[in-house]
Amino acid sequence: MAICLLKNITKSYELGGESVEVLKDINLQIETGDFLAIMGPSGSGKTTLMNIIGCLDVPSAGEYYLAGKEVSHLSDDELSLLRNEHIGFIFQSFYLLPYATVLENVLLPTLYVANGSNREATEGALRLLKLVGLEDRAKFKPNQLSGGQQQRVAIARALVNDAELILADEPTGQLDSKTSGEIMELLAAMNGHGKTVVLITHDRITASYAKRVVHISDGRLKLEENAQDIQDRGAVI
Ligand SMILES: Nc1ncnc2c1ncn2[C@@H]1O[C@H](COP(=O)(O)OP(=O)(O)O)[C@@H](O)[C@H]1O
Ligand SMILES: [Mg+2]
Repeated sequence: MAICLLKNITKSYELGGESVEVLKDINLQIETGDFLAIMGPSGSGKTTLMNIIGCLDVPSAGEYYLAGKEVSHLSDDELSLLRNEHIGFIFQSFYLLPYATVLENVLLPTLYVANGSNREATEGALRLLKLVGLEDRAKFKPNQLSGGQQQRVAIARALVNDAELILADEPTGQLDSKTSGEIMELLAAMNGHGKTVVLITHDRITASYAKRVVHISDGRLKLEENAQDIQDRGAVI
């Protein structure tokens, strides 16, 4: 089943009494287990599209089905429930709480979910910290970690509610190339474990970790290419 199905999605913003169309007639299907990269230049609408896929925002027109459910007319409360259940987010700037420990940051999404005990959640979070190689950093604060380590914490946080869909908006945008590679390897491993991953990037090397790539330009989805083609052409691009 398609975990995400976007049909004729448009998104407009009102600016100074004028309506600006930022997404134009987007059609996109994302299957469970897919690893999709969305590429496009700055201002092309990548984050706007990600916000709709992630139920952080609703389209102006069109239909969006998440896990078979049409969500474009849901209320904010309904959207946040759905987000918590299905989606883990990773952002360029990590968005960790500075005064909370690594473990507390990873546990944050579990605070909004009723089921399960604290102990179970903590054990789950510690397992995830081990998975991302940070089991010995659980009591550190984010500013005591490198950028790559902070993004690993964010990945653990994205996984803590066992979401099936991971959305990553420029996750390597603040990282050097070696660390970027490590983060992308980790996302690819999560995809190998069955998570559906949607990655936004303007970097071809980052996109080459995905299984398929779509391009967005001026709010329109353009050609799709096989990520293998990008790999074959190599890092010279
Ligand atoms: N809340 C908003 N209000 C008005 N315009 C916006 C808003 N968010 C984004 N835009 C505009 O939409 C376009 C696409 O933005 P965005 O999706 O952030 O692009 P990208 O992530 O590809 O850089 C830009 O021209 C931006 O100025
Ligand atoms: Mg963006």
